[in-house]
Amino acid sequence: MTSALTQYGVDDLQIILGAFSDLGTDILSGVVTEHIKAVNKKELRKFKMKEACEMTERSDAFLRKLEQADPSFEPEKINGIRYYTLELINRIRDKAGTRYKRPAGSDPIIIAISHFKGGVGKSTTTKAMADKFALSGLRVLGIGMDGQGTDALYYGFIPDLDISPEETIRSALLNDPSSIKKLIKNTYFNGIDIIPGNLTLTQVEIKLTDYKDQINQVKKLGFPDERLANALKFIKDDYDVILLDCGPNLNILTLNAINACNALLIPVPPALPDLASFCTYCKTLREHLEFSGKTKTLEFFRVLVTKHPKNKPSENILKLMLKEFGSYVMQKHIVYSAEIERAAANFCSLYELPSSSQKTYQRGLESMEGVFGEILDAFKQIWEAAANEVNEDVK
Ligand SMILES: Nc1ncnc2c1ncn2[C@@H]1O[C@H](COP(=O)(O)OP(=O)(O)O)[C@@H](O)[C@H]1O
Ligand SMILES: [Mg+2]
Repeated sequence: MTSALTQYGVDDLQIILGAFSDLGTDILSGVVTEHIKAVNKKELRKFKMKEACEMTERSDAFLRKLEQADPSFEPEKINGIRYYTLELINRIRDKAGTRYKRPAGSDPIIIAISHFKGGVGKSTTTKAMADKFALSGLRVLGIGMDGQGTDALYYGFIPDLDISPEETIRSALLNDPSSIKKLIKNTYFNGIDIIPGNLTLTQVEIKLTDYKDQINQVKKLGFPDERLANALKFIKDDYDVILLDCGPNLNILTLNAINACNALLIPVPPALPDLASFCTYCKTLREHLEFSGKTKTLEFFRVLVTKHPKNKPSENILKLMLKEFGSYVMQKHIVYSAEIERAAANFCSLYELPSSSQKTYQRGLESMEGVFGEILDAFKQIWEAAANEVNEDVK
């Protein structure tokens, strides 16, 4: 079959690129209407009694008694099987006092998930982490800081069709930090709100680095790389964890994320090119901090080994990383898993799939459970320590 492109000739790159762009958009809108739109109707799965008991830390007898005493705690029943929504599970947790509450006096964790390289698992990790935290009863906000808008796709939006420029973090960074409140969208996933990204963010990047454009804005809005930090002040108390899904770069948007965050997670697959890229990332970010004269402190900084194939070469690289970077490398890692890849292709995390005894599913889920458990334990320690400090001050 001859490519449709031959009719445009090969001499003029501009013409070829224009054609690719038009034809690519045709393909995308076709695919989008067929498949991705289905994601828009996406619902979070419901949980059977055994899962509800685990999640609420209460027995089935307790749940049955509760629904008898108060019909508002009654789950949907299909053929006698009880199906609990996450919203109902959280209400039961609240009633039973088993929902983790971030202690008064602690700040939310604002975590940037960042690396120079694309494809290392930033967005996949961010989505799974948001799901895990929300399933644990925490209040989560995800912000898309990458023009590719992968985060938007995960929540059922087609980044450049469903999301207008005004709905991204753009206006909070360019015009009015307090406008961030209006940008927050509820999602199909109870407990997760988002501010989705799309290609508009690329224009934001150009604007924020336009010296002439910004010179008059600094007085009103702060330095171009501090806009996100300023905006988050208006909403941060409404959440326990704010996740910043960064692009594969250290551009001004990523620097905004770095300045706004108090936790930084760098996903690194255990392979030489990824490790090399990680070193360049560290060097470049260090230079930026030095240049800006800022002292940045973090509550949490970890390298997360992702897409770990568990073969000999990758095990060797992991050993070296552990030896050199010590406890900054997370104990647990995310395995390379066909199941995670399949779920990502359908814009899902493993947490959204019906629980299964299948070996590949279990292996992928176990590795995620380990990683997010380790992260959540660290966050809880940070929160408890902050609350204790406040209590000490009061005494
Ligand atoms: N643990 C994993 N195992 C297998 N494939 C993965 C895993 N994590 C991510 N992927 C694959 O890699 C692709 C890129 O991941 P993504 O999270 O979008 O990278 P980034 O955000 O760093 O560019 C995903 O679409 C998915 O197919
Ligand atoms: Mg991404």
